[in-house]
Amino acid sequence: MNDSNEIAIEVKGVAKTYDKEVEALKGVDFTIKKGEVFTLLGPNGAGKTTFIRILCTQLMPSAGDIQILGDSVLNDPDAVRKNIAMVPQDAMAYSNFTPWDYAYAFCLLRGMDKETAKKKAEDSLKAMLMWDMKDKPCQSMSGGEKKRALIAATIASDAPVLVLDEPTSGLDAIGRRNVWSTLRDRAAEGKTIILSTHMMDEAEMVSDRLAIIKEGELVTIGTTNEIKKCVPFKYRVIAPEDAIDKNIYKNITKIGDRAVVYLEDDEEAINMVRDMLKKDLHAEASPVTLEDAFVYLAGGEDQ
Ligand SMILES: Nc1ncnc2c1ncn2[C@@H]1O[C@H](COP(=O)(O)OP(=O)(O)O)[C@@H](O)[C@H]1O
Ligand SMILES: [Mg+2]
Repeated sequence: MNDSNEIAIEVKGVAKTYDKEVEALKGVDFTIKKGEVFTLLGPNGAGKTTFIRILCTQLMPSAGDIQILGDSVLNDPDAVRKNIAMVPQDAMAYSNFTPWDYAYAFCLLRGMDKETAKKKAEDSLKAMLMWDMKDKPCQSMSGGEKKRALIAATIASDAPVLVLDEPTSGLDAIGRRNVWSTLRDRAAEGKTIILSTHMMDEAEMVSDRLAIIKEGELVTIGTTNEIKKCVPFKYRVIAPEDAIDKNIYKNITKIGDRAVVYLEDDEEAINMVRDMLKKDLHAEASPVTLEDAFVYLAGGEDQ
C-alpha cells in the first residue's frame, strides 16, 4: 500500500431505498485512502452492489453523497466517471470480441493514443495470464476466462480508481490468486481499488482495509488485524465436539460433529491440542480469523 493518508473517496450518509420500501443502504459514512485496496465484505443482499453502483454513478442515492477525488457523484458525475473504471458484478464477455479487442478498445475509449493503448492492453493481459488466449473469441471461453478478460480490460485503464464487484466469483483458485496479486500490484502503483466480496479469505488476503456491511449498515471498518481485535479471544482450536471438556472450555461454537473453541491464551490452545493428540484425535490451533470476527460482530449466518 502507498503510505499516503490522502483521502480518495469520502462517503457521507449514503442511503438507498428501492421502490419506497427496500432499504438497501441505511446511511453509511466512511473514507477510503489513496492507494489502498478497500474491500466491502458482507453477505448476499448486504448492499455491496448498491453501494458500488452509486459510487460509479450508475444509481442515484436516496440520501447522502460520495466525493471521489474531490468530485461529487450528485453534482459532477461526468468528472467522477473519468476517474473510475469498473467491473460490474454480472458482467460477462459474451461476444465474439477477443480479450485483446476488449482491452485495446477500452483503452482507446478512455482517450489513450494507439501506442499507449497497445502497451497498456498487453501489460494487463499478461498480468491476468490472458496473453496466450488474447485472440480467442470470448464467446468460446469458460465463465472464469470471460470474467478475467473483463478484469484485464478494466485494469488496462489509466483511471486512478478501479472498482470491482465480486471480481473472483466463478474463478478457480489460481485465477483468484492472480486477481489478488494484480490488484495489490496496481495499488502499489498508486491506484485506489474498491472491491466487494462475500468471501472472508479473499477479504483477508487482498485488503489493506475493509468494511463489513450487513443489511445496509456498516458493522465495522479497519484493517483485518484491527477487526480481529474486536473479538475477545486470540486463538481458536478446532476439535471433535464430543471430545471437548465443557467444564474447562466455555466458548465453543458447534459445527456439526466438530467445534471451534475460542481461547485467550496461547498456552491454553497448545494444551488443548496436546490433550487431543494424546487421545489420537485431530485438533488444529490458529489465531482467530476474520470469519470469527465477522460471526462475532455481525452474527453472520452467511458463511
Ligand atoms: N433494482 C432493485 N430493486 C429493488 N430491490 C433491489 C434492487 N437491487 C437490489 N435490491 C435489494 O437491495 C438489497 C441489497 O442488494 P445488493 O446491493 O445487490 O446486495 P449485495 O451486492 O450485497 O448482495 C437486497 O435486499 C436486494 O434484494
Ligand atoms: Mg452484489
